Amino acid sequence: MEKKNIDWANLGFGYHITDKRYVSNYKNGAWDEGTLTEDPTIQLNECAGILQYCQEIFEGLKAYTTEDGRVVTFRPDLNAERMIDSAKRLEMPAFPKERFLDAIDKVVTANAAWVPPYGSGATLYIRPYMFASSPVIGVKPAEEYQFRAFVTPVGPYFKGGAKPLTLCVSDFDRAAPHGTGHIKAGLNYAMSLHACVTAHANGFDENLYLDPATRTYVEETGGANFLFVDKDGKIIIPKSDSILPSITRRSLVVVAKDMLGMEVEERPVKLEELKDFAECGLCGTAAVISPVGKVVDHGRDICFASGMDEMGPVIQKLYDTLTGIQMGRIEGPEGWVRTI
Ligand code: PLP
Ligand code: COI
Repeated sequence: MEKKNIDWANLGFGYHITDKRYVSNYKNGAWDEGTLTEDPTIQLNECAGILQYCQEIFEGLKAYTTEDGRVVTFRPDLNAERMIDSAKRLEMPAFPKERFLDAIDKVVTANAAWVPPYGSGATLYIRPYMFASSPVIGVKPAEEYQFRAFVTPVGPYFKGGAKPLTLCVSDFDRAAPHGTGHIKAGLNYAMSLHACVTAHANGFDENLYLDPATRTYVEETGGANFLFVDKDGKIIIPKSDSILPSITRRSLVVVAKDMLGMEVEERPVKLEELKDFAECGLCGTAAVISPVGKVVDHGRDICFASGMDEMGPVIQKLYDTLTGIQMGRIEGPEGWVRTI
């Protein structure tokens, strides 16, 4: 397979139009058989549910070229399941798990020339999504939906590669108590844009959101979950009902416990505790594990002893193991890697 002529090593996290995308439509209570198309545009009625009441959900996963030249995805079954959970919460039809897995295989295969080579530093980001396509004017769920999946080659989500990030404690909330913070819906990200632009304007890389009910516990950032390492080397994972259940974070818990023999504790984490931690990282498909060096809480600097200049040792170990599994250098738990 002839690869596209791209400077893979210098790709940022951006959108490139690739050759094919997958489309399936839901009408009269059923999904059609689905197809690949070259057309990256969508024509919609002016009153489509997505345009009026934001009925949209999405997923994010990646395809990797392994050391031995295979193309694989990482735990796509969990993306399929999370998308079904998201669909239920927004009163949308589920896109069946087997259909989801098949759609991802097809869209990656059709764009094989865009899968970055092994060792290039880039990966193929896959964006499945679903939206309400038929008109609604009274507030209610639409009757028709479209599922799509496109791919785009990407480099690191945060500019500067492995340089530790500086976050600020946001004055805005990302999610409401008993709201939609735990699902992957576009509306959550629209909510976060003002906070995100404000943080960037003030020189920060990202926001740390607090729990919306009491504003004392750490939730997540706009696009990744937190992972902390305490001074004894124990992994601490914030637990909350209003954060997205990150597949990367859930995988890292298994890697840490079962593969590296580390201790892991999942519990609510107070902002006040951060000063006692040794390392901090952001985990997600796009973020992988990005180290955080400092959190600024209204002028008060909270610095992580390890990780101000480079990734701390525990996070480095987790990073090496996770990416080793994804790139086929290390054998992970059964079923984690799907060869396409
Ligand atoms: N939290 C938010 C808000 C996200 O958008 C993402 C990205 O998908 C994550 C966490 C990380 O989730 P995952 O590891 O499944 O990509
Ligand atoms: C992902 O990591 O897949 C996401 O969807 C996060 C987004 C901020 C790019």
